Amino acid sequence: MSSNDMKLLSIVGARPQFIKLAPVSREIQRRVEQGEAVDEIIVHTGQHYDPGMSDIFFAELEIPRAHHHLEVGSGSHGRQTGLMLEHIEGVLEEVRPGAVVIYGDTNSTIAGALAAAKLHIPVAHVEAGLRSFNRRMPEEINRIASDHISDLLLAPTPMAVRNLEREGLGDRTVNTGDIMYDAILFNRALAARKSRILESEGLDPGGYGLVTVHRAENTDDPERLRILLQVFNEIVADGLKLVFPVHPRTRNTIDRILPQWRPGEGLRLLDPVGYLDIIRLAENAAMVLTDSGGLQKEAFFLGTPCVTLRDETEWVETVEYGGNVVAGVSARGIQEAVEHWRRTYPRGRADFSAGVSAAFGQGDAAKRILGAISERLF
Ligand code: UD1
Ligand code: UDP
Repeated sequence: MSSNDMKLLSIVGARPQFIKLAPVSREIQRRVEQGEAVDEIIVHTGQHYDPGMSDIFFAELEIPRAHHHLEVGSGSHGRQTGLMLEHIEGVLEEVRPGAVVIYGDTNSTIAGALAAAKLHIPVAHVEAGLRSFNRRMPEEINRIASDHISDLLLAPTPMAVRNLEREGLGDRTVNTGDIMYDAILFNRALAARKSRILESEGLDPGGYGLVTVHRAENTDDPERLRILLQVFNEIVADGLKLVFPVHPRTRNTIDRILPQWRPGEGLRLLDPVGYLDIIRLAENAAMVLTDSGGLQKEAFFLGTPCVTLRDETEWVETVEYGGNVVAGVSARGIQEAVEHWRRTYPRGRADFSAGVSAAFGQGDAAKRILGAISERLF
């Protein structure tokens, strides 16, 4: 490689980061096939390690195998982030990339940003500028710190750009559109063709709701988790089937603090599913009920109404353009939101495309991200 070549090192570790990496990686491959000198190195911190939380995404999304696997695993925030920091530093010293790319807002994100910045390696942050304005969320701390450390802020929406400008970071910011929209556009037809999850679970299009829950605020607080599980049972008792792929964190907490809880008839608990299955589930659902950041957006992109099981959302555009209700974690709030969507879109088919293109771009975020990195960091 010559000194002008782009040597890019991506750091990922958690499920949503594999999904965000896939389009970036594909765009790098495209550039390489066109004769450009781009060298991609992937570091997997090992934050998520169950095959259903990690390997399945590399396989389905055809992401190259990680060149460095740090096998950090689970732990408290301090321990997990500290181990990542130490191991990432070692890899960066060995590889000496021209730039490091970090994704989203997990502990793998902040560890990557910090390790690279201290070694004076430029950092590009994909999905920069998101704010919930709730500093009790670990993700909010990760986002704010990562944005302020990074050299290039790749913002998915005009709102994210404004958040960064307010913090004095406008000069380092580029609006690229949302990388998860690229992922949906690429995989939507593939999911319709390849996923058999509706058939295997006996689900009719438009006849069920898709549920996910994993946020610390909902799983660490027994009362909030109890309310959610009870509401899900009430919703199925009222006649809407629910399918709930359960994040390992949530599965562990239910086993530990609510072992007596049982799903009502019509509430189907699954292990975490792959990306093609979740897209097919989300696209055909009457509604999505979730505390996931990614799934709120995916519902919006796919034209499925969403109930957000949190007190606030970073993805305010999904609410503004009429696709999302932030219901909080109260039985009444959630029931009202469910009823609202059942009245408005009885089979769950809506069209939010005007909002999608106004807020999230055209699905060419990967191209713009690579363009901004090569222009600004090399
Ligand atoms: C992390 C991110 C969160 C993101 C989520 C995506 C942080 C602080 N949080 O939360 O922002 O939305 O990933 O899913 O980085 N576990 C397993 N197997 C696994 C992974 C986790 O059993 O493969 C269990 C462990 O008990 C672990 C717990 O889940 O302690 C939590 O995992 P962790 O990665 O710390 O946080 P998430 O809740 O997954
Ligand atoms: N997801 C998945 N299988 C599941 C649940 C979620 O593939 O069983 C996908 C989801 O569609 C989204 C991503 O994982 O693309 C989001 O991850 P998660 O909800 O864990 O994290 P967040 O987006 O809240 O950080």
